[in-house]
Amino acid sequence: MEPRILIMGPQGAGKGTQSRRIADEYGVEHVTTGGALRANKQKDISHLGLEYDTPGAYMEAGELVPDAVVDAIVEAALDEADGFVLDGYPRNADQAAALDGMTDLDVVLVLDISRETSVERLTGRRVDPETGENYHVEFDVPDDEVVRERLVQREDDTREAVETRLDVFEDETAPVIDRYRDHEGYVEVDGEQSPDGVWADIRTAIDERAKGS
Ligand code: AP5
Repeated sequence: MEPRILIMGPQGAGKGTQSRRIADEYGVEHVTTGGALRANKQKDISHLGLEYDTPGAYMEAGELVPDAVVDAIVEAALDEADGFVLDGYPRNADQAAALDGMTDLDVVLVLDISRETSVERLTGRRVDPETGENYHVEFDVPDDEVVRERLVQREDDTREAVETRLDVFEDETAPVIDRYRDHEGYVEVDGEQSPDGVWADIRTAIDERAKGS
């Protein structure tokens, strides 16, 4: 069986960047709630009778999308995957309980960065709308001029939405990370290093913990 990996950490820690490398290297599915929700931004969820009628409205405000929507996305994706890297879920205690009922995990990776680094990375992030690849105005500028010119900023990477997302992380997601500290596959990685430095630590951690899975 392929490894079942959970990757957690604050916004901008590099979860998306590193998850793509993990998926390529280990041949597992990249299950990303943020990506799935961005692909369904306009989905009508008015039947839930909550604050907003679409996932996109929650995302632009920097708030969490309702659990009922996100749990269903993750359950369907994990059902189909033989090995995965799960990125963006669980983000609160109820989602963590739901995940317990869906699957076991071999590795729990936590990327650590400061709040200051989060803000710097996210406000400078630019996305290639054709490939979905992430770049940064300072740290990771594409060589190709055509790519450089078509880059866009994510709607939730404004300063205001970033601050809200980080507050939500501290209140709701950080306690979930604490819950995994006793898991035998738990490992913290210094996310302040270069992307290659982070990747080297992640590979070592996965190779040590997923042996025989
Ligand atoms: P989501 O898409 O999951 O966003 P996030 O958790 O806020 O994470 P980010 O994508 O911002 O950060 P990342 O760690 O992936 O960083 P990246 O690799 O891009 O969620 C978006 C929204 O969807 C949520 O706010 C919520 O509304 C909703 N949602 C999603 N999941 C949900 C759930 N479970 N429940 C409810 N709602 C949910 O890197 C960032 C930047 O830094 C890039 O520019 C990159 O080039 C650069 N970079 C990366 N690594 C390095 C490095 N080592 N050094 C220098 N620069 C680096």
